[in-house]
Amino acid sequence: MKKVEDYIRSIPDFPEEGIIFRDVTSILQEADGLHLAIDEMIKLLDGVDFDVIAGAESRGFIFGVPIAYALNKPFVPVRKAGKLPCATVSKTYDLEYGSATIEMHKDSIKPGQKVVLVDDLIATGGTIEAAAQLVEELGGEVVKIVFLMELAGLHGRDKLAKYDVASVVTYE
Ligand code: PRP
Ligand code: ADE
Repeated sequence: MKKVEDYIRSIPDFPEEGIIFRDVTSILQEADGLHLAIDEMIKLLDGVDFDVIAGAESRGFIFGVPIAYALNKPFVPVRKAGKLPCATVSKTYDLEYGSATIEMHKDSIKPGQKVVLVDDLIATGGTIEAAAQLVEELGGEVVKIVFLMELAGLHGRDKLAKYDVASVVTYE
C-alpha cells in the first residue's frame, strides 16, 4: 500500500540552487495520491471544532477546498496581492526564496469564528504566520494549522509556537 510520501517528487536545485523542491503535482496526477493526501489531512482534523477553512494561494487552495467540501465547511481564500476585489487586509512576509504579500477580504472571517489554516507545505513558516495574523486581525481564532508537508530543517514551526500545528509528511 503506497503512502503519501511515495507520491511526492523531490527536485534538487529548483527554483534556485540549494533548494529541494517538494512537488505536489506528482500527487495530484494520480487519483489514489490525491485521495490519500486529502484523507490524511482530514484525519489531522479529527475532533477539531471549527467554523471555516482558510488556505493560502495557490497550493493551499488545492488541498483546502476538497477538505472544506468533505467536511461541509466554508472555504476562505488567502490571496496574493491585488487579486481580491473588495476591501482587504494585507501582510508582507519572507519566503524560502523571495518575499510576498497576501490579502484576505475584510468580511471573509467573522469575529469569533474558529479557523483552520491549510497549506501544502511549511518551509520558513512565513506564509502561514502571515495568514494567521490576518485571520486574527479580522477577529478569527486559529484553532489548527494543517500541512501536507513540513520541511522541519527550516524550523518554520518556531514561528507558529502558539498554534496547534500538524503535518502528514515531515522532511528533516
Ligand atoms: C509555497 C507553499 C507555501 C509556502 C511555504 O507557496 O505553497 O504556501 O510557499 O513557504 P514558507 O513556509 O516559507 O512561507 P508559494 O508562495 O511558492 O506559492 P504557490 O502556492 O502559488 O506556488
Ligand atoms: N515552497 C517553499 N519552499 C518549498 C520547497 N522546498 N518545495 C516546494 N515548495 C516550497
